[in-house]
Amino acid sequence: MAPELGWNPNCFFEIVKARRTVRAFTATPVPDEDLVRILDAARLAPSSGNQQPWRFLVVRDRAVLDRLHDDALALTLEAAREQLYMMEAEEAAAHQAQIVDYIGAFLAAPVYVVVLLDTTAPYPAYVEQDGALAAAHLMLAARALGYGTAYDTDSIPERAIRYVLGIPDRYQILCMLPIGIPTAWPPAPPKRELEAFVAYETLDDAG
Ligand SMILES: Cc1cc2nc3c(=O)[nH]c(=O)nc-3n(C[C@H](O)[C@H](O)[C@H](O)COP(=O)(O)O)c2cc1C
Repeated sequence: MAPELGWNPNCFFEIVKARRTVRAFTATPVPDEDLVRILDAARLAPSSGNQQPWRFLVVRDRAVLDRLHDDALALTLEAAREQLYMMEAEEAAAHQAQIVDYIGAFLAAPVYVVVLLDTTAPYPAYVEQDGALAAAHLMLAARALGYGTAYDTDSIPERAIRYVLGIPDRYQILCMLPIGIPTAWPPAPPKRELEAFVAYETLDDAG
């Protein structure tokens, strides 16, 4: 280990291991102080040419989140309509109930951060990579403070996010991240062993 460390590195590795994608939240509020610390960690992410092309749109207003819920649910059910028609009535009802529960649980968090990317930034080819790094900082910072998050691209249709939140075309919506206390911490999904990804010096032995 480098001799000049002024912190205990173990905390970082524990946080990385403990981060989970969370899709169901309690309504317990996130204090502003915590939220600002989390956003500040996102702000400090590296970016191409230090262009920092992100905007973090914070949504806490329950009335707005309820509108988003209703629009997201309507669009999701519409997208599933054909599939639902093909099912037996009982199966269709169960599938529809699943969609309703999923969107309800996902949108129950007290805070959402929509990561937006300014497509007029100096290096537009890299804005997605920049934004993903900011989102990673955000998720780890939130976990450090005890909150669950999710890098969500599909659960809430982009059309609903753009319309309800009035996001101009200039901004690409990268993801919408809930921040909150999970109803339960999900178990870790399977992750492949390190050896599956790493090659030293050459790829000769890679499958
Ligand atoms: C680019 C990206 C897009 C994702 N989109 C979604 C999504 O739309 N809905 C969702 O529930 N999870 C989404 N996830 C979360 C992944 O499903 C999750 O990270 C993966 O299952 C591993 O679980 P873990 O984050 O707990 O390690 C996304 C993650 C990434 C990195």
